Amino acid sequence: MNFELTDEHKAIKDAAKDFAENEIAPTSVERDIKAVFPFEIIKKLGELGFMGMMVSQDRGGAGMDTVSYVVALEEISKVDASVGVIMSVNNSLVCYGLEEYGSDHIKENYLKPLASGQKLGAFCLSEPEAGSDATAQKSTAELHGDHYILNGMKNFITSGVNADYYVMQAVTDKSKGYKGISTFLVEKAYEGVEVGKKEDKLGIRSSDTCSIGLNNAKVPKENIIGEEGMGFKVAMTTLNGGRIGIAAQALGIAQASLEAAVQYSKERKAFDAPIANLQAIQFKLADMCMNVEAARLLTLQAARKKDNNQNYIREAAQCKLFASEVAVKNALEAIQIHGGYGYVREYLVERFLRDAKITEIYEGTSEIQRLVIAREILK
Ligand code: CAA
Repeated sequence: MNFELTDEHKAIKDAAKDFAENEIAPTSVERDIKAVFPFEIIKKLGELGFMGMMVSQDRGGAGMDTVSYVVALEEISKVDASVGVIMSVNNSLVCYGLEEYGSDHIKENYLKPLASGQKLGAFCLSEPEAGSDATAQKSTAELHGDHYILNGMKNFITSGVNADYYVMQAVTDKSKGYKGISTFLVEKAYEGVEVGKKEDKLGIRSSDTCSIGLNNAKVPKENIIGEEGMGFKVAMTTLNGGRIGIAAQALGIAQASLEAAVQYSKERKAFDAPIANLQAIQFKLADMCMNVEAARLLTLQAARKKDNNQNYIREAAQCKLFASEVAVKNALEAIQIHGGYGYVREYLVERFLRDAKITEIYEGTSEIQRLVIAREILK
């Protein structure tokens, strides 16, 4: 497999880097502290085509491949992982499912504005009692005439407060287990959709997370995505691509941690010389560099398999698992190299650790990724 980026990929990487450094970085510290959503940044990302990167151009997207998405998302997340997750959810968890499984009605009315960045999307699978065990859905959807009536509660929804549209799972036939789950496009504005309290989080604080209550929410019949009973399959295949996105987000944090550690170790003096001269520091930097490179190769491998229409379930789980664990390790090592300065807000590395931790949890915990990998190699 060729891991060289094409000139086009390099141009996308440069454009994302330039945007991140000039448009995202100036406000990232304050947005993290105050937990402020990056409205203007997301709007501009949409105008640049970064919110629907893999959606075909006739559906409002940028018509790019998954490798382009990965390189762009790494650069954005390197500067601000909160912006990274908002971008990743809209691209991977929302636009993908609409394009892959949605009817013309869904594509025309919802995919186009989402892919072009005019609207923002969120993915609502998790519930208070359905996290890793995603089949344990309790939310229900009953067909009454022209509408489904949805009841239940969705939990930990990234962008739930500020999204316009939700891709949401609910049970249409309890007797069929996970084969009785369906997926719907639900507008936040629909009667009976109740946005819960915004969570106060450890990291990725500039992205919002909340619960969504469904209290006899009326969803038009034509807003089903795929057929009744296909909802779990829609969610799982969507999450395969989502995991590549989270790997790219984690990669950005891991690379940012490495670069901060390299810079600091060249500037900081101890025992009359830069600490970069010390083998204790060099060994840490070497491991950080090797791990981030390995994570990048795993992520590009999964992206290329997806682009080549090959099975990428295992590769997606592997890159998400490895990159997220590297993000946490690299952030921890960057703090260790910074010493006391790493523990205070003056330097960015403490945020890298807070942002990194969630990448081991959302879109399937590390334990679920190991389970997915094991099931794929044992089947
Ligand atoms: N890709 C495609 N299909 C898959 C799949 C995958 N990765 N994983 C499972 N399936 C399919 C199976 O093939 C099976 O289909 P068939 O009946 O056609 O054979 C069906 O789904 C049921 O699968 P299992 O029997 O393996 O179900 P299980 O209950 O034993 O295990 C699980 C399922 C893998 C644990 C799954 O529940 C899972 O992935 N859990 C993690 C959920 C998750 O990632 N949540 C993230 C929430 S979203 C989020 O975090 C977004 C955000 O805001 C950032």
